[in-house]
Amino acid sequence: MAAQGERADTHGPAPDEHVIVLFGATGDLARRKLLPGLFHLAKAGLLPARYRIIGSAPAQAALTEEEFRRHAREAVSTFGRSKAQGPQWQRFEESLSFGSADPDAYEPLVEAVESAERAIGGSPRRLFHLAVPPAAFASVIELLGTSKLAEGGRVIVEKPFGTDLPSARSLNETIHSVFDESRVFRIDHFLGKESVDNILALRFANGLLEPVWNRDHISHVQIDVPEHLSIEGRAAFFEGTGTFRDMIVTHLFQLMAFVAMEPPTALRAQALRDEKEKVFQSMRPLDPAQVVRGQYQGYRQEAGVDPESDTETFVALRVELDNWRWAGVPFYLRSGKALGAGRHVVTLGFREPVLRMFPMAAPEHVDNRTNELVIDFDDPGRILARFLAKVPGPSMRLAQAEMVFSYAESFNSMHALLGYERLILDAMLGDQSLFTRSDGIERLWEAATPLLQDPPPVLPYPVGSWGPQAAQELIAPYRWFLPEAD
Ligand code: BG6
Repeated sequence: MAAQGERADTHGPAPDEHVIVLFGATGDLARRKLLPGLFHLAKAGLLPARYRIIGSAPAQAALTEEEFRRHAREAVSTFGRSKAQGPQWQRFEESLSFGSADPDAYEPLVEAVESAERAIGGSPRRLFHLAVPPAAFASVIELLGTSKLAEGGRVIVEKPFGTDLPSARSLNETIHSVFDESRVFRIDHFLGKESVDNILALRFANGLLEPVWNRDHISHVQIDVPEHLSIEGRAAFFEGTGTFRDMIVTHLFQLMAFVAMEPPTALRAQALRDEKEKVFQSMRPLDPAQVVRGQYQGYRQEAGVDPESDTETFVALRVELDNWRWAGVPFYLRSGKALGAGRHVVTLGFREPVLRMFPMAAPEHVDNRTNELVIDFDDPGRILARFLAKVPGPSMRLAQAEMVFSYAESFNSMHALLGYERLILDAMLGDQSLFTRSDGIERLWEAATPLLQDPPPVLPYPVGSWGPQAAQELIAPYRWFLPEAD
C-alpha cells in the first residue's frame, strides 16, 4: 500500500482490501461514471485482491441484489469502456450487493456491510461514496455516524460543496462531526484528468518553463471550458445552481490553483494542498463589474425552467491574484453551456519582446495568437507552444508556427484512467493530493461573496455561439484562444 498521504503510483501495489458503499447507486452519476469506472479499475487490476461494492439508496428506491447487478451490467454496457462480459465481469458482478438506508432505518445497509466484511475476512477498509443530491448529504453523513458505519472509514463527497460561505461552513461542520478531514475526499473529477496532473510535471519537473512562469513574462492566463451540450434535462439541478457554482467554483478555480501555485515542498497531499490554499488566499474578492453572466436563448423554454429565470448558463470573469508571482496578471475564466464547441483549455499568453523589429507576414498568416502556451486537457490531452518563425524566402517575414506534444501520439495511453477512476483509486489509497480541502472551499466562497450578493444581469446569447459579446470585451486587448482558427 502507498504510504498515507503520498502520491500513489497507479501501476504500483493495489490498495488495501475494501468495502465500497455507493450511496445514490441508482442515480445518474453512479450509472454514467461510478459503476463503469469501478469496473474499469477492476479490469485494469487496480482494485484490491478482495473487495465488495454495496449499492445503497433509501428504502423506497431499494433494489434487490439481482436488480442491482442487472442495473450495473446495463450501466457498464451503456457507458463503460470495457464490456460487461467474460470472467472479469463475472467476478465484478459477484462483488455487488445492495443495502438500503434511511436516517431511521439503516439496518439493511449495516447487514450488507457486515456480510461483505465477513466474506472478505480480516479488517477491510470502508469507503463511502456520496453520489447523492445536496439535500441528502447531511442525512447520509448523520446516518453513517449514528449507525457507527463511519468508524475508520473514508468518505468521498460530491460537489456542490455548498452554495455560498454559510452553507459551505455548515456542510463542513456536518461532515467533520462524523469524519475528520484526513478521511474526507471532496471529489472534483477535473483534477483526475491526466493533463491536469501533467501541469505539475510540466512546471516542476522541467527547467524550461518554471523560470518564465510569472508576471515578468506572462501577460495573462485563460482557463476556458466551453461546453457544446446544453443542460440536457437537468433543469431541477441547474436552475438552483447555474454555471458559476456548477463549473467555476468547483472546477475552474481548482485548475487555476494548479496553474498559479508556488512549487510545493514535496509531492505530498499536505504540501500540494497548502500551496493551492495560498492561491485561494491571495485571490481578490470577485468584482461583479469584471463578470459577464449569460443565458443561452431558449433556456427559459426548457422543461422545468422558470420562464423568467435569472440563472446563468455562461460565465466569463477576471480574477486577480495578489501575490508576488502574479500581481497585475489577469486570469480570465470562462465556461458555458450550448456554446460553439466542447473544450478544456488553459492558455498562458507571454509578453511581447520589448522591441518588435520584424516585419510581419500578411495578416491571414498571423492571428495574434502567437507567443502562447496552450494546455489542452481534453482527454487524452495536448500541449502546444505557439510562436513566430521566419517564412522561408529571401525576405525576413514572420508567421505563426506551432510545436505540439500530444498524449495520444507520444504515449501508450492503455493505462490511462478517467478522472473518476483515478480519484476513486486515490481515495482508496488514502492520497488526498487531488481533493479539495475544507479551508480552500470556504475561502473560495468568501471571495465569491460580492458576486453572489450583486450579480450582473444575465445577457442572452445564441445557441452555438461563444457567449455574449461582453465576454470578448472583458478580455480585451487580449482574445480568447477559442475558437481556434481552422
Ligand atoms: C460537471 C458539471 O461537474 O462537469 C456538468 O455538473 C458539466 O454541468 C461537467 O457538464 C463537465 O465535465 P467534463 O469532464 O465532461 O468536461
